[in-house]
Amino acid sequence: MEIEPTSSHTVTVSSSKETGGFGRALGRLLAPGDVVGLCGDLGAGKTTLTRAIARGAGVPAAVPVNSPTFTILNLYDGRQLRICHLDLYRLSDGRDLEGIGLQDLLDERTALVVEWFDLFSDAFDSDHLRIQIERTSDQGRHFHLHATGESSCELLEELRKGSAPVE
Ligand SMILES: Nc1ncnc2c1ncn2[C@@H]1O[C@H](COP(=O)(O)OP(=O)(O)OP(=O)(O)O)[C@@H](O)[C@H]1O
Ligand SMILES: [Mg+2]
Repeated sequence: MEIEPTSSHTVTVSSSKETGGFGRALGRLLAPGDVVGLCGDLGAGKTTLTRAIARGAGVPAAVPVNSPTFTILNLYDGRQLRICHLDLYRLSDGRDLEGIGLQDLLDERTALVVEWFDLFSDAFDSDHLRIQIERTSDQGRHFHLHATGESSCELLEELRKGSAPVE
C-alpha cells in the first residue's frame, strides 16, 4: 500500500491586509488541478481569503469575488489559471456536486477553491490543501494548513519557502 505524504504548517496574521498577502502568495503558486479546501466558522474569512487567492492568480481587481451563494460556483479567469470558487454551505446533498460536473470543471487550466470544504470533503481529490481558519481576535487569524498528497505537499513547501514576509 502506498502511503500518501502529509504536511502541516500554521500561518498567523493580524489583519485583513495580511490575509490578503498570504492569499495572494498562495494564488501565485496555484496550478491547474490544485484543490484548496477552506474551513472555519461563519465570518472566519473564507471568502476574504478566496478573493486574495484569486488576485494572486491574476484575476483583475475589477472582477468581484464574492461567495457564490445562489449559484454554488463562480469561475474567474486569471493569468493562465481559471479559479473555480465553490461554496458548499447551502448544498444539502453531496450528490448535487456530481450534478454540476465537478470532474469536467477541473480541466487542464482550472484550480478549485472550496468554502465549507468539510461538509462534503469526500467529493474531492484526496490530494488537497485544507486550510482551517481560526479566529484569534477581531482581526487576528491562524491559518492551519494541512496538505494530504504529493502535489499539495509540494504546494505547501513552495508556500513555506516564500512565506517570510506576508506583505
Ligand atoms: N485577518 C482577517 N482575515 C480575514 N477576514 C478578516 C480578518 N480580520 C477581519 N476580517 C473580517 O472578517 C470578515 C470575514 O468575512 P468573510 O465573508 O470572508 O468570511 P467567510 O468565512 O467567508 O464567511 P461565510 O461563512 O459567511 O462564508 C470580513 O468582514 C473581514 O473584513
Ligand atoms: Mg464566505
